[in-house]
Amino acid sequence: MWIFCVQRRCFHCSLSVMKKLKGKTATEQRWVLRQLKDPYVKASHAQNFRCRSAFKLLEIDDKFGLLQPGYSVVDCGAAPGAWSQVAVQRINSAGTDQGSPRGTVIGIDLLNIPPLDGAHFLSNHDVTDPATHGKLQELLPQGQAHVILSDMAPNASGFRDMDHEKLITMCLSLIDLAEKILLPRGSLLCKYWDGVFSHHLQEKLSSVFSSVRTIKPDASRKDSAERYFLARMYRKPSK
Ligand SMILES: C[S@@+](CC[C@H](N)C(=O)[O-])C[C@H]1O[C@@H](n2cnc3c(N)ncnc32)[C@H](O)[C@@H]1O
Repeated sequence: MWIFCVQRRCFHCSLSVMKKLKGKTATEQRWVLRQLKDPYVKASHAQNFRCRSAFKLLEIDDKFGLLQPGYSVVDCGAAPGAWSQVAVQRINSAGTDQGSPRGTVIGIDLLNIPPLDGAHFLSNHDVTDPATHGKLQELLPQGQAHVILSDMAPNASGFRDMDHEKLITMCLSLIDLAEKILLPRGSLLCKYWDGVFSHHLQEKLSSVFSSVRTIKPDASRKDSAERYFLARMYRKPSK
């Protein structure tokens, strides 16, 4: 009887997987199968996170204590909003914990970001655009942030070197943003794809932050070039 139940369940699972794969190209089928097997995808559904990337930020924050109640946080490349969900919880920007100070989360993306209690979103905004920097200065308390997060990524062209260079350029623009909004001793966490220009970005970060380290969270897929720089103790350049 037990064997019959298991067999029947497996048969139903295979049917639902086959339905998900029907009409898809080989690349799309590989992606669907990888998603179905991924424990972080399963956990993100179970914990109501908008995507699996939440676990990368949770892991980094558990280790380095980046997000504190009461902080002001800017989330660059925020759609669909999983990092902002984590930030809202950790800095208490929805005011859920009445005994702790209430923080501020502002998320920005070129795409639409579905609303989230405790976060203010600038959808259809480009993080690299100085006009966006101006809006951030207006929205942040005293125009300043304790932490800048960036999980931004350009649409991948498939040409690894080109995509790497584009993302490095985007990360470099965060240094200009930091000069406008980041508090002295503040932190910047940014995603990059590893390649020849990674060292250049690291040097630029080291010129304005006292500590810069490379992080590859467990939740980041082993076969991807994805890495994060965690830059801490910002030193505002004197004019
Ligand atoms: C990997 S997703 C971010 C996922 C997000 N951290 C989360 O947890 O939900 C990368 C995002 O960067 C955004 N992006 C890329 N270039 C951008 C730019 N110049 N300004 C704002 N957002 C950008 C993309 O639209 C995309 O939504």
